[in-house]
This record gives sequence, C-alpha cells and structure tokens, in this order.
Amino acid sequence: MSSGLRHLLVTGGAGFIGSTYARQLLEGNLVERLTVLDKLTYAGNPRNLDDLRPDPRFTFVQGDIADAGLVDRLAAEVDAIVNFAAESHVDRSIEAPEAFITTDVFGTYVLLEAARRHGHRRYLQVSTDEVYGQVDRGSSVETDPLVPRSPYAASKAAADLLVLAYHVTHGLPVVVTRASNTYGPYQYPEKVIPLFVTNAIDGTPLPLYGDGLQERDWLWVGDHCAAISAVLERGEPGSVYNIGGTSHLTNLELTRRLLAFLDQPLSLVRHVPDRPGHDRRYSVDDSRLRALGWRPTVEIGDGLARTVDWYRGHEDWWRPLKSGEYLDYYRRQYADRLSVGRAVE
Ligand code: NAD
Ligand code: DAU
Repeated sequence: MSSGLRHLLVTGGAGFIGSTYARQLLEGNLVERLTVLDKLTYAGNPRNLDDLRPDPRFTFVQGDIADAGLVDRLAAEVDAIVNFAAESHVDRSIEAPEAFITTDVFGTYVLLEAARRHGHRRYLQVSTDEVYGQVDRGSSVETDPLVPRSPYAASKAAADLLVLAYHVTHGLPVVVTRASNTYGPYQYPEKVIPLFVTNAIDGTPLPLYGDGLQERDWLWVGDHCAAISAVLERGEPGSVYNIGGTSHLTNLELTRRLLAFLDQPLSLVRHVPDRPGHDRRYSVDDSRLRALGWRPTVEIGDGLARTVDWYRGHEDWWRPLKSGEYLDYYRRQYADRLSVGRAVE
C-alpha cells in the first residue's frame, strides 16, 4: 500500500463486502499481512474466505469486536483497522435491535480504544448512506445532518459520530465511508437481490414491500472495496467520504430486470405489507471521493448479469444457508405478509 500500511486488521471480513475486500487486498498485493477478525454470526461465512486460506500472508481469527482483550492483542500487531463488522440487515434491526447496539456501537468503541492505545496510523469505519435518512430529492453530502430512521441506521450513525469524536478529542487518524446499496457475489440471501434471485431460481414468491417504488442507487461490491482502498490510502484524517452507485432504480424495476435475466415471469412477485419506517429513497453525492481518483467501473446491467450468473452457478454456496435459523426468520418476516400479498398489475 503506498501509504505504508503493511499489516491490516479487517473486522467483519467473513461477510459479503469484507470478504471481497480481503480478496482485493491480497490479489492486488496491497498489504504484506492481513488479519481478519469475524464473529461468524449467521451472516458470516468461513467459506467466503476459502480461497485465501492457503496464502501465508492471511490469518483468520474467530471472535467478537466487542471483546476488548482479544481486540487489544490483535491491534498490537497491526498498523490500521478497517471495520466492516456489523449487524447489517434493516428488517432484523426492527425485530431484534439489541445486537445492533452491542456490535455496531459498542464494538466500534472497543476498536477505537485499541487503535488509540496502539497509536494506529489509520482507522477506517465502513458506514452507510442510511445514516442520512431518506432523501426525497437531490443527494446527500458529507456535511448533511444525520437523520437515521431504523435501529440499524441509528446504530451506524452513533458509531460514525463516535469515530469522528475520537479524531477531534484524541487526534486518532480516522476516515469514514458511507456507501450506497452494494450488490454482487457472496451476499447473504436475506438482502433483496440474493433473496429475489434465489427465490426466483426456485420459482417461489418474491415479497416486494409496499408499492415497490422505493429507490436505491446500486453499487458493485468490487467498486465499493476499491473506494475503501482509495480512502484508506489518500483520505483526509477526520473526513467522511460518500460512495455512490451507478444506477438509481426502483425496487420494482430492479425486480423486473432480475426476472428477465432469469427468464422467470413477473407473476412470481407479490406486493406485501411494507417495512415499518421504510426509507423511500437514498442518494449520495460522491464528488469528494471522486477527487481522490476513484470511479465506479461496473455498470448495473453488467453487474446484475454477473450477480445472477454467480448465484446460478453457486447453489452449493447459498442452498445450505437457506435452512435452519434462516427458515425460522423467513417465516417470521414473510409468512403473514405473503398470505395477504397481491399480484403485480
Ligand atoms: P454482512 O452482514 O454480510 O457481514 C457482516 C460481517 O460482520 C459478518 O461476517 C459477521 O459475522 C460479522 N460480525 C457481526 N458482528 C460481529 C462482531 N460482533 N464481531 C466480529 N464480527 C462480527 O454485511 P455486509 O453487507 O458485508 O456489510 C459490511 C459493512 O458494510 C457493514 O458495516 C455495513 O453496515 C456496511 N455497508 C453495507 C452496505 C450493503 O449494501 N451491504 C452498504 C453500505 C455499507
Ligand atoms: O443503503 C445501504 C444499505 O443497503 C446498507 O447499509 C445495508 O446494510 C444493506 O442491507 C442495504 O439496506 P436496504 O434496506 O436498502 O437493503 P435490503 O436489501 O434489505 O432492501 C433493499 C430494498 O428492497 C429496500 O427498499 C427494501 C426492499 N425489499 C427488501 C427485502 C429484503 C423488499 O421489497 N422486499 C424484501 O424482501
């Protein structure tokens, strides 16, 4: 890494985006050593890192970012922390918010304390556009007020503020990224794209919340990770960087496109009762990040085609996930909704 960061601690690196980032770091020879710390919650999957295990630069540690003793031992060996670890699903934060506070807020505090004690040269917090709340028109800039509207978004906003406070109070060289909806291979099948793709492969209903006209700006996972590297290397300490996608789509339009790739009918879609407090639209202005030289490289048509192909070719990855606790969650989240759902006109 041109910034001279040789050994990174990547937390949450067995999840969707963190595992992609770990792969990019090693494939691109961006670090000399990489330690991944991950609790392996339902969303963390050791298989996401299988291809990295033989690499002598790579170490995996199963553990909790809220475990101060463990974090302190690992922090003593690295130059910087990149924190992906989080409870990340909005619907679960509505049903059971406690883990969002202990991981997303308290866990971040534990990491910051360790980074401070060991005089780290960088701390990067991976955050989200959801901290700005819904944006009816225009795009959020980094100085906008934070108006989170779900327990998940509130837990991420609390963490962002804590991270920035450690810069002001302790001079810790932190940077924060706030990215839009990310998609690609290895995403756990509770999030809308892998959920709809895998349901459609099986010919089962796609539960589209409300009118389906909510809008998201889709960002290819590899582009998200490249942006994190740019901010880690060249970001201004104490600053926030938005990461935008390449395409604003309504959920209905997104669903139509996925079904077209899969050659499945629109009749699989059910309009079901909405998510409480559902944010209608997110949009970020990422010109500050673009000034660092970053650009998204994968446009939505190509990205969705690659994603659908990956799920079609990796049933051995996602089928085992759709069992046990997942099915209990699925029933709680969708059984009543689907029983009153209506077809798309
Ligand atoms: P994910 O749910 O796929 O992965 C989260 C990972 O964190 C899992 O491997 C999990 O085991 C691990 N983890 C959870 N609690 C932990 C703990 N206490 N200690 C250690 N590890 C723990 O999530 P993702 O989609 O890869 O998101 C990664 C980060 O990016 C999150 O911070 C999320 O808020 C942020 N983000 C996600 C998106 C998106 O669209 N997916 C967009 C913007 C920002
Ligand atoms: O914007 C960044 C955020 O994107 C990240 O911070 C979160 O970690 C990530 O989960 C994602 O949040 P969303 O709530 O936008 O993603 P999700 O995949 O849950 O939903 C995307 C859209 O699809 C949203 O408008 C809700 C809708 N949806 C989702 C599910 C799971 C449905 O219509 N039906 C569903 O079953």
